Amino acid sequence: DPEETLKPRPPVVTIMGHVDHGKTSLLDALRGTDVVRGESGGITQHIGAYQITTKDKQKLTFLDTPGHEAFTQMRARGANVTDIVILVVAADDGIMPQTIEAINHTKAAGVPMIVAINKCDKPEANPQKVRERLLEHEVVVEEMSGDVQDVEVSAKTGAGLEDLIEKIMLQAELLELKARPDRAAEGTVIEAQLDKGRGPVATVLITRGTLKRGDVLVVGTQSGRVRAMIDDKGKQVKEAGPSLPVEVLGLSGVPNAGDQLSVVENEQRAREVSEYRSEK
Ligand code: GTP
Ligand code: NA
Ligand code: MG
Repeated sequence: DPEETLKPRPPVVTIMGHVDHGKTSLLDALRGTDVVRGESGGITQHIGAYQITTKDKQKLTFLDTPGHEAFTQMRARGANVTDIVILVVAADDGIMPQTIEAINHTKAAGVPMIVAINKCDKPEANPQKVRERLLEHEVVVEEMSGDVQDVEVSAKTGAGLEDLIEKIMLQAELLELKARPDRAAEGTVIEAQLDKGRGPVATVLITRGTLKRGDVLVVGTQSGRVRAMIDDKGKQVKEAGPSLPVEVLGLSGVPNAGDQLSVVENEQRAREVSEYRSEK
């Protein structure tokens, strides 16, 4: 899109790290929610997508990924749709296999990283050891004269969370994130499933343009018309602009995570595009 049509958009921030290092708890603390309690076995099984508004009215989109080793693909996907990665490392547990994997996904995606050293409320927390061990994986934090920002936090007490938000905003400013809102929407499917009552439901991150109720769309090889959109608070919305994650209802079938969403002029065109994509 031409430069003059671009408007600032919220950063998309993906939270990654080893299982149980406190990714969802951190997000809960930032959002004032309690997602962790509702999770089966306290394990995140899908990519959660949320938007928060800071005290000074800045919007941030967060993607929460599972740390369990079975979910490598989801972490890779998270890294690929993101502007900034928050690497969560528990200060008592230190660098673990999924920490290293998250570092590798982040590097492969070429995305800036902020290290959140979590659980600093614990007596056995050793943040300095975390910084030292990160060196072995070529993550050099500011305190070690590197350029990766790090912040000591506790999802339990809330310590360091404002500092974390500030560091994210600072990083986002450097990236000068922009998108054109007043055009046909494009987006990426974060996840999708068949819901008994609602039919195919796709959680989509809008990357540019604005998706509107009634829009005709192609999502991967599926097509349809937007019947309803639901935001991360469970509220119906009529429009979704850049960086907003929304559930989209009205598709003919369940698309795949990572599929691209595009809005087209009419149903005829939607069929053509989806048929063309199916043949490829
Ligand atoms: P997965 O999604 O399963 O990978 O885990 P996660 O990284 O999202 O961790 P989760 O938020 O589920 O937290 C794991 C456990 O650590 C829970 O029992 C939390 O209550 C606890 N926890 C998280 N953050 C903190 C913290 O800052 N301090 C303390 N003491 N406990 C924490
Ligand atoms: Na957990
Ligand atoms: Mg979790």
